[in-house]
Amino acid sequence: MSEQFGHLINRAYDEVKKYKELVLSDPYRLSYHLMPSVGFLNDPNGLIQYKGFYHVFYQWNPFGTMHGSKFWGHFSSPDLVHWQEEPIALAPTEWYDKDGCYSGSAVCDDGHLYLIYTGNVKGENGERETYQCLAVSTDGVNFEKKGPILRVPEGYTAHFRDPKVWKHEGQWYMILGAQNLEEKGSAVLFTSPDLYQWEMIGGIAGAGINGLEELGYMWECPDLFPLNDQHILLISPQSLIKNGEMAQELFQSGYFNGEFLYETHQFKHGPFKLLDYGFDFYAPQTFKDIHGRTILFGWMGITNEIEQLQPTIPNKWLHALTMPRELQWRNGRIFQRPLEELQLLRNNEVLYKDIQMKQQAIQFEGIQGTSAELFIEFSPRECHDFQIDLRHEARLTYDDQTKEVTLYRRNIDNSGEQSRKCKIEGLSNLHFFMDESSIEIFINDGSEVMTARYFPKPEDHCITFEGDATFNITKWDLLQHKNEESSPQQELIFA
Ligand code: FRU
Repeated sequence: MSEQFGHLINRAYDEVKKYKELVLSDPYRLSYHLMPSVGFLNDPNGLIQYKGFYHVFYQWNPFGTMHGSKFWGHFSSPDLVHWQEEPIALAPTEWYDKDGCYSGSAVCDDGHLYLIYTGNVKGENGERETYQCLAVSTDGVNFEKKGPILRVPEGYTAHFRDPKVWKHEGQWYMILGAQNLEEKGSAVLFTSPDLYQWEMIGGIAGAGINGLEELGYMWECPDLFPLNDQHILLISPQSLIKNGEMAQELFQSGYFNGEFLYETHQFKHGPFKLLDYGFDFYAPQTFKDIHGRTILFGWMGITNEIEQLQPTIPNKWLHALTMPRELQWRNGRIFQRPLEELQLLRNNEVLYKDIQMKQQAIQFEGIQGTSAELFIEFSPRECHDFQIDLRHEARLTYDDQTKEVTLYRRNIDNSGEQSRKCKIEGLSNLHFFMDESSIEIFINDGSEVMTARYFPKPEDHCITFEGDATFNITKWDLLQHKNEESSPQQELIFA
């Protein structure tokens, strides 16, 4: 361990120790989501299954609740439900990553685990340098940096980052998020025989490619992968034009689907579609597990004008990752399904069948809580309008005339209510995953999803239903498994 690395790592662990009690005292700590032990978390990175464990790395600033020089924090799990915090994987210590070990991915080769990430360097006048870098591990816990493997090619600005790497027929591929010289976003493909020598193939999607005019000034966190008979390109474009249903935030993640031909490197795709219609979802990444499932984690947060007003900030932490979701391709779109393993958290099932509601507001005994799963199944054609209020802080409504689902939450700056909408073809079911200060709502088997943080009064457990509809409800409490318990290694470091 270099002296500089050791010093910075120790400062980060000191920060964890110093604020541990304060962080853990926060009633808004989540019970089954991944959060930083202190400081600021953003993108999920390096998702992979390696030597029998799932690994989730994440962008982390331990020194404050704002963006900064990012580390890679690290969690591992045998089952995607019970997590252990691992020692810091990467810290911004070298000339090529001194202002941040930015987002990237992980691959496994010959028993080694490789992290491919972006080294971010800022000059004195704010100018940026960008290097794609490699680090390697033989135990999945300790990483040795190998340095830069790729510089920014001609034709692109220094906004060139977030490598996602995979192997196809013996060849490595890397897709990067980029900005061209006209300051428009695109995704650029490279190939390599050995992870060290990379050759540019070129832009495969973006402004001016495939008839696309433009979509944001920079594409972050691209991810290209097969899903059934499709290829999906996930992207997180910066600065979408706010456009009603299409983009309600400036930064919103979505995808193109189509056909990617390895022979010609052409990606023929359809229009951009959003992945999530809620308030807080960005920079998702996927990986395939050994069962062949495509599993996604996203950042359950976003940087916008109200980010710095979140009530967890006085308690020295900010943001969380979404729960893991399985992606499926059906009826011409991505469906997101709650990962089956999350059923391990279920407890205290309560079931009400054939409820016929006629405009009254109802609460049901046993249906309340702060960390709970609710599955609501409507009788076909018997949902005229429906509303569910969660803890007096968020509300989801469905109007069968307009076929709109709307999610309202109290504005974090207390200035009233904000809303987000999506259109569906009729409501057949709603699946809610509530955690102490988050909600993830899967609509119609996950054909649409809405993700949001919210900050109800901790003692308010009230769930109220209203409308004109016939339905069944099942509720489970989701048992807490606080992920703050440190790993044995971490205990040693903190001792
Ligand atoms: C997306 C992003 C990435 C970058 C990282 C820095 O949220 O801006 O493009 O690598 O966050 O933390």
